[in-house]
Amino acid sequence: MLRIEGVSVCYGRIQAVREVSLSLQEGELVALLGPNGAGKTTLLKAIAGLLKPSSGEIWWRDWQLSLLPAHQVARLGISLVPEGRQLFSSMTVQDNLLLGDYVHHVGRFKNLLGPKQWLIRRPEDQQRLAEVYSLFPRLQERREQRAGSLSGGEQQMLAIARALMSSPQVLLLDEPSTGLAPMLVREILGLLEHLRERGLTIFLVEQDAHAALRIADRGYVMETGRIVDEGSRKELLASPRMRRAYLGGL
Ligand SMILES: Nc1ncnc2c1ncn2[C@@H]1O[C@H](COP(=O)(O)OP(=O)(O)O)[C@@H](O)[C@H]1O
Ligand SMILES: [Mg+2]
Repeated sequence: MLRIEGVSVCYGRIQAVREVSLSLQEGELVALLGPNGAGKTTLLKAIAGLLKPSSGEIWWRDWQLSLLPAHQVARLGISLVPEGRQLFSSMTVQDNLLLGDYVHHVGRFKNLLGPKQWLIRRPEDQQRLAEVYSLFPRLQERREQRAGSLSGGEQQMLAIARALMSSPQVLLLDEPSTGLAPMLVREILGLLEHLRERGLTIFLVEQDAHAALRIADRGYVMETGRIVDEGSRKELLASPRMRRAYLGGL
């Protein structure tokens, strides 16, 4: 289980996340909703170890993540699909995936030749790549293509595929539907449901509440750094605040 207890995160004097507490049970798909600037990305980065909380604690099972550097958080099985995808656009699809797998090697080999050489040496990496390609056949077809030449939907798939290369147990996704046509959004959501069925714990940040609540078990709503609403998918769909602010109802 992932537990966030009274976490605050600051950028200098700006407090972007204010004493947030929330938790995810293993195997759950939980949505984090809220408008631009609410602090959602900041919270995900704190979970991933990319930002240190100024107070509070973040626990995954028996580890206090908030004390660990990002690469150790990743090795414990927490993987972030960042906002805006952050691919290496001039590198091939396959090299982007191999870089996602880097986390398995950091600390074991310091001066390696490059990701390609490890792959040739290590059969389990070949297997992981094959598993990821079986989930994303389109990426396999395009493996020698530059990442920057993929469509928006394919790039988002690649960003998710790269995160899966580290065999994570928790997947943190930062607005994966941004900029995608409705059909592609459905495809991404379908993929996330499939990953949950395979046992992954998923924390999905979305501005598109309709989309997120189609698949989430539960959700939290964040505004100006604080959690202002929470509940099961049903409760959130019925919540007057949600309907007013995010679901376009009365
Ligand atoms: N690198 C940064 N330096 C200073 N302020 C930041 C930085 N990143 C985000 N912020 C501020 O923190 C708040 C939360 O931002 P963010 O976590 O990106 O929100 P969201 O992802 O919900 O849109 C905003 O007020 C934003 O302007
Ligand atoms: Mg954001």
